[in-house]
Amino acid sequence: MISPVSSEILIRPARPEDAAFVADMLYLSMGKLADYLFENAKQPAHTLIKKMVTRNAGRFGFEITFIAEADGEPLGALVVCEGAKLDSLNLAVVPNIFSVMGLVPALRFLWRGYALPGGREAEKDEYYISNLGVSAASQGRGIGSQLMTFAEERAQSVSLKKCALVVGLYNKNALRLYQRLGYQIVETISHPNEYLGYHRMVKQLS
Ligand SMILES: CC(C)(COP(=O)(O)OP(=O)(O)OC[C@H]1O[C@@H](n2cnc3c(N)ncnc32)[C@H](O)[C@@H]1OP(=O)(O)O)[C@@H](O)C(=O)NCCC(=O)NCCS
Repeated sequence: MISPVSSEILIRPARPEDAAFVADMLYLSMGKLADYLFENAKQPAHTLIKKMVTRNAGRFGFEITFIAEADGEPLGALVVCEGAKLDSLNLAVVPNIFSVMGLVPALRFLWRGYALPGGREAEKDEYYISNLGVSAASQGRGIGSQLMTFAEERAQSVSLKKCALVVGLYNKNALRLYQRLGYQIVETISHPNEYLGYHRMVKQLS
């Protein structure tokens, strides 16, 4: 049995020096979607994500990222934003993606992103949990749940009454966690590639 984290968990805003860890957690939380979107013969997806984080590139930026740490060691990361800001964060990715990937892979990235199945990830009256990841050795110890509670508190601090997220159809563990925390499936997008199908989930905050 995995024991809870003994030291106190501190949740703090991410800093530029967290870029490598944030990239690890983004890559972990995106699963094979990251390899699909960031396909580039020259550099692996993880390297490209790290470059995007370093550039603070829109929804990959450390400015919308929070780190859970214990004894100064980062253990998990959360990327969140107001649903109303998602479009501008997506737009801010565009110039950076050309610099980081080069012309042809960047165009492929943008096309694949545009053609992803489904509609908006979050509505304007929702707070959006874009990414959540806990390092493998620290999973199952309550850190993900604490980061989710933190996200909900932030939503309430900006007067939003709903939190939203999407979870890949393949990701049964994360789905179970979100259901336990009170998130309900509001939409299911099926796709022959299981890494592209997802549930959109929403929680009404009290
Ligand atoms: C999903 C994730 C963020 C949960 O964080 P966590 O710190 O392990 O979560 P907690 O300890 O607070 O809660 C554990 C719950 O998560 C689920 N879970 C997910 N992965 C788990 C793991 N490796 N070990 C144990 N539980 C896991 C379990 O369903 C468990 O729920 P239960 O207590 O009702 O059984 C984390 O496991 C993770 O980073 N997974 C890989 C990336 C990912 O899938 N991110 C979400 C994308 S939508």
